[in-house]
Order: sequence, then C-alpha cells, then structure tokens
Amino acid sequence: MAAGESPLRDPYGRPINSLRISLTQRCNFNCFFCHREGESNPHGEATAEEIEAVAAAASDLGIRRFKLTGGEPLLRRDVVEVVRRIASYADEVSMTTNGSLLAEKAADLREAGLRRVNVSLHSTRPDAFRRITGIDALSDVERGVSAALESGLRPVKLNVVVLKGLNADDIPEMIEFSKGTGAVLQLIEFQPLQRGAADWERFYYDLRPVEEMLEARSEVVRERALHRRRQYHLRGGGVVEVVRPMHNSRFCRFCTRLRVTSDGRLKPCLMRDDNLVEAFRAAVARREPYWRD
Ligand code: 5AD
Ligand code: SF4
Repeated sequence: MAAGESPLRDPYGRPINSLRISLTQRCNFNCFFCHREGESNPHGEATAEEIEAVAAAASDLGIRRFKLTGGEPLLRRDVVEVVRRIASYADEVSMTTNGSLLAEKAADLREAGLRRVNVSLHSTRPDAFRRITGIDALSDVERGVSAALESGLRPVKLNVVVLKGLNADDIPEMIEFSKGTGAVLQLIEFQPLQRGAADWERFYYDLRPVEEMLEARSEVVRERALHRRRQYHLRGGGVVEVVRPMHNSRFCRFCTRLRVTSDGRLKPCLMRDDNLVEAFRAAVARREPYWRD
C-alpha cells in the first residue's frame, strides 16, 4: 500500500489490518471446547508458497500483521519456512500454539522472524490440564513457555479459556504464575462453537465479575485497539487481558482482522460460516456477457 493510502474497510467502516492464518486443522491435543477457528471441512492444507502468496497480496492491501493458528501450527514440518516467507511482508508475525512442541522450535521461529507468541495453557494443575486438553502434556507446555521467553519472543501471552468447575477457581493462581514468568495472562470467554457447543451450559463462566475484580486491583487499565480488549496492569505486577466477545457489540465493532482457513480460503468472521453465500454473491457480481454489442 502506498504511504498515506487508507486501509481496506468493510461495509461497516471497520479497517482491516491483520490476517489470522490457520496453517493446519491437525492437532495433538483434544480440547473438548475447541472451536477449530470456525472451520468445518478443510480440503487439504495450503502450501508454504500459497501462504506466502496470500501474505504478499494482503501486504499490498495494507495488511501487514499476521497471526498463525491451527489446529496446532507447530505440527507443520515447514512451519519455520512459513514464518520466514511471511516475515518479509510483515510488520509483525505472531502465533497461537498449544505449546507442546515449542521448546524445540522457539529459537528457530524467532530467528525466522516470529515476534511473539500466545500459548494455550488452560491450567497449571496437571489433572485439570488433562481433563481439558485430553493429554498429559503440562510439563512440555511449561518448558515451551520458558523457551519462548528465553528466545526473546515478546510478549508471551498465556491463553486460558475460563471454564466453570475446571479452572475458574484457579484464576488467582494463574495470575501469580504468569506474573512469575513475565508472561501476560489472557482470560478468554468460552464460546459455544463447534465441539464446544454441547458442553457450553455446563462449563460457561461469566467473566464480567472477574473484570470488576481486576479493575479494583489495577494500577492502570489500557484498552487495546483490537476488539477494545481491556488490559489490566495490576498493582504489585502482572498483566491480565480479557477477551469477552459474547453479546459484546463493541468487540465486533472494533474487530479489524480477516481469516484465512487452513486450505487457503478467506473467512470474514470466526462466527460466520457464509463463505459459500459470499462466494456466490462475488461470482454473480463478476458475471459479464462474453459476446456483447
Ligand atoms: N471458546 C473460546 N476460546 C476457545 N479456544 C478454542 N476454542 C474456544 C472456544 N470454544 C481458544 C484456544 C486458543 C485460542 C485461539 O482460542 O484455546 O487459545
Ligand atoms: Fe483446539 Fe487448540 Fe486445543 Fe488443539 S490445542 S484441540 S487447536 S483448542
């Protein structure tokens, strides 16, 4: 995008400045709530070259921040190459990972141009971790968090989907843990999507009272541009960000990202599965008579 040119905007005036790219739908965890980034039927995986082409086109349109997601992105053997290719078009490349393979890959990812990372760490208790993810990998993930910090990835954010009866009572402990490691704690509201829909009523936990508690304990509260998410900088140290999208029109009004599915299709919104409808509209809008006077 030429300097001074304005960013792409959607019909609601929302500028689009970041791209969330799923690299695979494969995952070595089995979280019962997984929303699978809103994907239902992936047809294979885009290649590193194809992903680079997407990043190049996005960058031409002023989109220069990229977040790599999954499934679990580190299951891709070429993940370091993907980061390296994207980095040349980016102001920032970040990743959301379950952390289980991060210890072995953090340094190479950093060298390839990854700037920061979100690690899903839904509990620091081995039993709750296993109940949530279906796998006994807490110590691997903790090693991954340390390796990310040692490699200079900053900030490291710890993603916690807050679940009633599983980890909600451990929020104070999680705050202490993240403060101790120097990571930002990111508390995420459980959304009833895909696999999570069936268990939603049983495990949903309202984060509004948590936000009130955090506000009372904060020295400063910052509001991020994306989603107007609030970041609580606690007295005595520790930073907690809260992601509370449900019934939150401000969250959607300030959503500035577009998604790319693992098989390389554009997806306008996590919650919407109207790709086909959009594709029909776009195709109809592009129809022109071939022979004409
Ligand atoms: N609701 C909220 N967050 C979810 N995540 C996965 N499924 C859900 C859900 N149903 C989390 C992942 C990851 C982040 C991108 O979203 O655990 O940390
Ligand atoms: Fe889904 Fe992430 Fe859990 Fe894998 S680690 S099952 S992608 S929520």
